[in-house]
Amino acid sequence: RSRGRGRPKRRPPRSSPHLVGPPLMPRAARPLPQRRCKGKSDRVSGGRERHRGRERPTGTGWGSRRNAPGTSRRQGLIDSEEDMFGDFDSFCGNDSLLAQVEDIEHKYQQDKNTDAKAAGDIVLGNLESGICQKKEDNFSTSENKIALKADKEDAFHVNENDPVDSNQELTESGLDDLPSSQLLYFGKIDQLSSGSRISPVSERSNQCVNSSDKIRSPSSFCPDTEHRNRPADFSSDSKHDLFKTESLKDHLKSAMAGNAKAQTLQVSKTKQLKEAVLSEEICVARKTIESSSVDIGPFYGLPSKVKDLFRQLRGIEKLYEWQHDCLMLESLQQRKNLIYSLPTSGGKTLVAEIIILQELLCRQKDVLMILPYVAIVQEKVRGLSSFGIELGFLVEEYAGSKGRFPPIKRRIKKSLYIATIEKGHALVNSLIETERISDLGLVVVDELHMLGEGSRGATLEITLAKILYTSKNTQIIGMSATLNNVGDLQKFLQAEYYTNNFRPVELKEYIKIRDTIYAVDSKTENGFTFSRLLNFKYSSNLEKADPDHIIALVTEVIPKYSCLVFCPTKKNCENVASMVCKYLKKEFRAHREKEKRDLIKNLKNIGNGSVCPVLLQTIPFGIAYHHSGLTNDERKSIEEAYSAGVLCLLACTATLAAGVNLPARRVILRAPYVASDFLKKNQYKQMIGRAGRAGIDSAGESILIVQEKDKHLVIFTNPLENCYSNLLLELNKGMQSLLLSLVGLKIAVTHEEVDNFMWSTLLGVQQQLLSKEKSLSEIIKDGLENLIEKGLLKGRISEKEHNSKCILTITPLGKATYKGSIDLAYCNLLYRELKKGLEGLILESNLHLLYLTTPYDMTSDFRPDWMIYLRQFNQLSTAEQKVADIVGVPESFITKKASGQAIRKNVDSAVVNRLYLSFVLYTLLKETNIWSVAEKFNMSRGYVQNLLNSAASFTSCVLHFCEELEEFWVYKALLTELTKQLTYCVKTELIPLMEVAGVLEARAKQLYNAGYKTVAHLANANPGTLVKMIEHLSLRQAKQIVSSAKMLLSEKAEALQEEVEELLKVPTDIPGTC
Ligand SMILES: Nc1ncnc2c1ncn2[C@@H]1O[C@H](COP(=O)(O)OP(=O)(O)OP(=O)(O)O)[C@@H](O)[C@H]1O
Ligand SMILES: [Mg+2]
Repeated sequence: RSRGRGRPKRRPPRSSPHLVGPPLMPRAARPLPQRRCKGKSDRVSGGRERHRGRERPTGTGWGSRRNAPGTSRRQGLIDSEEDMFGDFDSFCGNDSLLAQVEDIEHKYQQDKNTDAKAAGDIVLGNLESGICQKKEDNFSTSENKIALKADKEDAFHVNENDPVDSNQELTESGLDDLPSSQLLYFGKIDQLSSGSRISPVSERSNQCVNSSDKIRSPSSFCPDTEHRNRPADFSSDSKHDLFKTESLKDHLKSAMAGNAKAQTLQVSKTKQLKEAVLSEEICVARKTIESSSVDIGPFYGLPSKVKDLFRQLRGIEKLYEWQHDCLMLESLQQRKNLIYSLPTSGGKTLVAEIIILQELLCRQKDVLMILPYVAIVQEKVRGLSSFGIELGFLVEEYAGSKGRFPPIKRRIKKSLYIATIEKGHALVNSLIETERISDLGLVVVDELHMLGEGSRGATLEITLAKILYTSKNTQIIGMSATLNNVGDLQKFLQAEYYTNNFRPVELKEYIKIRDTIYAVDSKTENGFTFSRLLNFKYSSNLEKADPDHIIALVTEVIPKYSCLVFCPTKKNCENVASMVCKYLKKEFRAHREKEKRDLIKNLKNIGNGSVCPVLLQTIPFGIAYHHSGLTNDERKSIEEAYSAGVLCLLACTATLAAGVNLPARRVILRAPYVASDFLKKNQYKQMIGRAGRAGIDSAGESILIVQEKDKHLVIFTNPLENCYSNLLLELNKGMQSLLLSLVGLKIAVTHEEVDNFMWSTLLGVQQQLLSKEKSLSEIIKDGLENLIEKGLLKGRISEKEHNSKCILTITPLGKATYKGSIDLAYCNLLYRELKKGLEGLILESNLHLLYLTTPYDMTSDFRPDWMIYLRQFNQLSTAEQKVADIVGVPESFITKKASGQAIRKNVDSAVVNRLYLSFVLYTLLKETNIWSVAEKFNMSRGYVQNLLNSAASFTSCVLHFCEELEEFWVYKALLTELTKQLTYCVKTELIPLMEVAGVLEARAKQLYNAGYKTVAHLANANPGTLVKMIEHLSLRQAKQIVSSAKMLLSEKAEALQEEVEELLKVPTDIPGTC
């Protein structure tokens, strides 16, 4: 292959295209030859085909460049040292008509800036020589002479003054001799492309995904050198070229099609076969061109700067071999959907991030990344903001109550939306609704096994199914360490599969029964073999306090190394932490004593003077607990102290089990239980996977403590659990909300269309698991009827065949429900309550509003303390007390309850509980101190924190609900403000600082007190100075804060600029102008 500027040399013609494998793939669409991973379980399989690995000559380290799909001949314009054409050359490999035309175009483009006359000559010259070359190479694959023939040279006359036209003319005349088989072929392609993955909605809306895509993919062609250095900016320049290319291609296509419409001649079988081969090549080439990206640098198509950033910001020097191989997969090159699965800590994220950057920078499309938890989303936003700043894309947070629906349409920069499962779903809905779903080039789902986890799994399934159905050009990538029934998931996502057993740091698994440690060994019958006896000297007291020898196990590693102890319950975490430190030697206190003192001081600040007594006792020993009972601020401080080695042991619940990168030389599982359920294999794998994280630890081991009685329950040879669809969970909750939004978004508006859509769900793939009593279609029918009954849909569903085609429509309430992501169980109630509120909303304080937006699902399993209820009620003003009466909780009821009297009147306990929780929120917004409020209401601070987070999120949902119902216009302004208050729940002056991803209240206070009062202050801060001025702030954290602030600022500025542009845009339809 040629390297450097010049045109590549042509490869000799293939003697038989049939023998090249995979046979019908043009080389342009292929990756560099690649080496197969060596791991035993290393396999790459596709739904239909297995990819054969090939020897890769250039090694696997940094600098190996990605060979982008469809590397266009137009890249010849790039003044580059890069090997831009190697594979493309072989694509046109003397046997592709499209390539030939591209070739001509390329030449034309190359010279278009020179004198027109000269340009014409050059083009003509090249055409001629190209044609000669073709002749020599036996380019024609059939007697019909598919190639641009020499005797057509006259047709290639280039009009000096009108190069575009001449190009078209050239193309048209050059195509006259195409064989008729092309028609069949294009018919097939068109069928394919308009097939299952084009939704009725896009048809209905007359939206041509392909054409809009082409126009929106300017980067597909020829950025110049300067642009390569400024990837975010090259889009506008190349638009023009793109347009021309597309029009030429269209000409080509229509000429082919028109020609093919002519009478079909009797042709020999060989000829037909050859034509079919050629046709398929053209098809693949076409698809490739449509989905093509532009290499804008040597690092997997990305600029070297990306590589430098990974080195600087992540300390990553070189890709693992599997990472390289995965990135070079044919399936990725062709932008097929992909699922990849590797052990925990295998480095899956990096691959996803490179693919994301390729999409943002090379293909110039937006990307959605779905992560399981708010905290992980915030962490990712912080981590990727620096990349965004350096590389010129936006990082937008969609978590909790944050995120705009639909997102702002950016003019130049592309956006990376980082979202939780719920917000990701709402975002996709809003993009479908505004017919912008094709702007989303890529969706990455981390922890794909979440598909099988309850109602969140259902939401994820719904999101992905909608994308698959409505946007055939959106690529989906899913990753996980714990997948089992990959076949089902592959079918669902129409994805290829890559797996490898690579783990950079070896993880040794052990199990402890009594005082014996066994090594996990799946080859043996019971799954483990003797390893050693635990070495400990326990007094009888200690034996009683610690019968499971946790102290012996942890002291083998701490304080030098870190240790995580997973416990079944929150209480158990606290008990374990207390117990361990009670029996630790005094010397443990000396380890990083000052930093531990600082940590306690910090926690005291966070709690406005209060610190949890358990933490106060355990932290001096370097020990803490970690579970959802901590406030967000506490959790963060503890995690940071643990990461820094100040704390060496955390007793935690499964909250720390998935996706987190914390140091842990040893992970201990206190018991094979999560709450009262026996530990699942997936959970076990995720928990132990926290040990030995690459780049943090050089070794890792796990010890599962098992009682003799449970020994037989622990079966290491069991496979991981399967992912099953959860659409039918909780009385078909997921299914119902899916049906509603399908009609609402006009994705499917008849029973028949809904039936069709269901094939693209995981449930559709797993239909055989349904009970024999009801088919999927019957379940759908029941669901639609139910929605009609509830007043959310309008239309008719009946047994009769013709009714399966009756159009269903959504009612305003239905629309508000799906747009607000309101649980269908509560939508009618919410509507009634809001309606009643209109009759007399008490606005003396926010109590009434808070009541209306207190999450319904937090009221069950909850008992108010009646004395506290009464006390809080009595502290309310008269107007506020009226709220209780309005919502249906009379004062007499509260008084009687508090005094233990019998009550005859029937009062709805859900309303009573909800009002109590709104008292909590009301006090919280007034005092902004979780600790004191928790104390006042005798609740754990974690519960109060959780209530606050849920309320913020639910309020934003109610806001979206109200936005759809005109009668609720008055709530809009009120709820916008309330959402903000609940989201931050701090003194107003701290809010701007807390908008920066990951800056919580404690940090915001520190920053504010140090003089950093606005986002602009933070965005322009010097990280070094920040470290000096702010206690407990590492340089890495400081840099992340500055980057996140810069990102936020730039995102806001962009949004304003977009608004200005929009305002100043001259309408094209001004009356009186033509
Ligand atoms: N090529 C590399 N060289 C050095 N370190 C790497 C490389 N790739 C990834 N890492 C580091 O390995 C650690 C684990 O990677 P990552 O978080 O991607 O694991 P994962 O596969 O997603 O695991 P899990 O399934 O537990 O989430 C991270 O700290 C990451 O920075
Ligand atoms: Mg991960």
